[in-house]
Amino acid sequence: MASTRGEFSSRFGFLMAASGSAVGLGNIWGFPTNAATNGGAAFLFAYLILAFALAYPALMAELIIGRHARANAVTALRLISRSKRSRVLGTIVGLTGILTVSFILSFYAIVSGWMMAFFFDPLARLMGMDGLAKWLTQDAELRNSIFALLFMALTVFIISAGVKNGIEKWASRLMPSLIIILLLLILYVFTLPGATEGLRAYLVPDFSRIADPALLVDAMGQAFFSLSLGVGTMLIYGSYISKREDLPTIGGLVALLDVGIAVLAGMLILPAMYVALANGVEIFDATGGLIAGPGLIVSVLPALFATMSGIGLFVGVAFFALMTIASLTSSISMLEVPVAYGVEHHGLERRKAAIAIGSLIALISLVIVFNFDPLFDLVVTYTTEVSQPLLGFAFCIFVAWIWQRNDILSEIKQGSPEVESGLFWKIWPFYVKFICPVAILVVYFQ
Ligand code: TRP
Repeated sequence: MASTRGEFSSRFGFLMAASGSAVGLGNIWGFPTNAATNGGAAFLFAYLILAFALAYPALMAELIIGRHARANAVTALRLISRSKRSRVLGTIVGLTGILTVSFILSFYAIVSGWMMAFFFDPLARLMGMDGLAKWLTQDAELRNSIFALLFMALTVFIISAGVKNGIEKWASRLMPSLIIILLLLILYVFTLPGATEGLRAYLVPDFSRIADPALLVDAMGQAFFSLSLGVGTMLIYGSYISKREDLPTIGGLVALLDVGIAVLAGMLILPAMYVALANGVEIFDATGGLIAGPGLIVSVLPALFATMSGIGLFVGVAFFALMTIASLTSSISMLEVPVAYGVEHHGLERRKAAIAIGSLIALISLVIVFNFDPLFDLVVTYTTEVSQPLLGFAFCIFVAWIWQRNDILSEIKQGSPEVESGLFWKIWPFYVKFICPVAILVVYFQ
């Protein structure tokens, strides 16, 4: 079995794939708006601390289990269990993760579909097809279904091609493009009137908010969602890393890239919002807070691009290309979780598994599209606010309390022989054993 498993061909390939998973709508949309509504740089500060103190150790837990077991979450958690009871628990946690990530993908595909529709809107206008452009930007069940399906089809296409020829190849193309587009957009927005005010709203801290439990809960949820934790995504990517790689270092690089791109995205979104304000677009909602929900991406920003005359079309295309790329490198990492399980546990052929599971998830997306009002928020809340933190907790318990310490050490040592005498091994085991589970529970019960 092991010889037929995929593997990332290089460190760069893994970094692009894993940071591609991490960097998604959560970074470019979630982080900046969370920061803006939670005291600006005070949120940034809390986020940085939580990301490195809590999310990074949890990320390492998944990467280490994954690479050790070289298998999907269910098989991996059973492998490190020593009693029958913990094996059963491993199966439950693994399967819950697979189910959770499938539901996350079902709503993620809908939102990513909007991004694709808005990407085509300026193109349609460039070609003089104003009717089409209007259809693309109007929130309707038909448009939402078509684009959710289109987006899922792209995701299935990449996953069908496997780890090296699908995930790695596409992430290595898309992630550098994403960073370039992001930097170009920031540079352009900085030249516009109002941008500095947005930067101020983002970077001047309101430290009175720092001890606010709501801020900490938001920052922690943001960090876990953003690093794709708790559902076996990072575990399965970890299972494709070569045994020669130094895990603490590459895990750290993934966390750095993720946080770095979130911080950069803040330097685009908030200045852009204040430029929109300077151009006469409404950016505050009825309660006086910044518009943060879907309205920000699908109305404030398009309204801003519309005030930019000709160049606005190009800025719009670039911005929604950025969003679509960010979504796609994340969605493939979600679909890989159930597909790897189907392939390894049930002997399915990869392409067939990708198509079958992708279709099933697309069907759930359609059910949500046609029952948007109760279902969308329900699915988002249950998966990201209930299931994900609890699973993150369970992963920490598995690594720190069920798996043997010596086995963990020898796993890490394979690519990092010096690790035992370094800082990582002095701090990390203690962290996943005590600090992470307690912190997750505290935040959860807030
Ligand atoms: N991290 C991605 C984002 O920020 C989303 C994502 C990818 C994800 N894989 C995941 C979220 C697994 C939760 C679980 O948008």
